[in-house]
Amino acid sequence: MPKLTIAIDGPAGSGKSSVARRVAAMLGYVYLDSGAMYRALALKALRQGASLNDEAGLETFTKETHIELKPPRPEQEAAGAKNGVFLDGREVTQEIRTPEVAQAASRLATIAGVRRVLVAEQQRAGAGGGVVMEGRDIGTVVFPNAELKIFLDASPEERAERRWKEHQEKGEKMTLAEVFDEVIERDRRDRERRVSPLVRAEDAVLVDNTAMGIEETARLIVMLAGDRQKQLAGVAGGNP
Ligand code: DC
Repeated sequence: MPKLTIAIDGPAGSGKSSVARRVAAMLGYVYLDSGAMYRALALKALRQGASLNDEAGLETFTKETHIELKPPRPEQEAAGAKNGVFLDGREVTQEIRTPEVAQAASRLATIAGVRRVLVAEQQRAGAGGGVVMEGRDIGTVVFPNAELKIFLDASPEERAERRWKEHQEKGEKMTLAEVFDEVIERDRRDRERRVSPLVRAEDAVLVDNTAMGIEETARLIVMLAGDRQKQLAGVAGGNP
């Protein structure tokens, strides 16, 4: 069976990371979290006090930054990490998971030059197929020819509650209302930006998992992947 490229896009809290990681594990594919790259870059910009408005400077800044995604170590995976994230050779897997970094990532992600550099890296990382990549523009820009595209969504209330639970588990004291506002603001920016906004690709399958768990959602996507593989094998073998 041919190995597929699977693109999973959707808003914050839609379950992309957990579902995409599970799908990759079930299929024996590589999992890549493109959002972690925007977050790592944002962490560096915040640490260095870089201006988030200097577009030309930020493109150079991105080119000079080395971001690497690796499979998580078992203890990291047990703690919920989906990729080990390295920024200029130093591990930042935990540090990038704060609301402040998320907001800065969403702001950096509006800049065309930043996206150009990161998209090229994402395309290189996923080049061989057999990959599940998640983000906002994977099916529309990074891998427009992906054999399977999923647009994952859930109600804003459910997405905020999932994020809030994650913060609770880490002992962070944010109220549900604060998390709701953070998620809604980031969604708005991600959907309304001029370059590569979050939109459902025309050929993406919409999966609303408001009332579904991670395992159920992952199984559905694995089933769709199996259908797609059969379809492709049929085409290659000359079947209608
Ligand atoms: O998936 P995430 O919440 O970790 O992503 C953080 C931010 O990065 C998100 O608000 C928008 C941006 N992003 C993007 O613009 N394109 C992607 N492919 C992935 C993330």
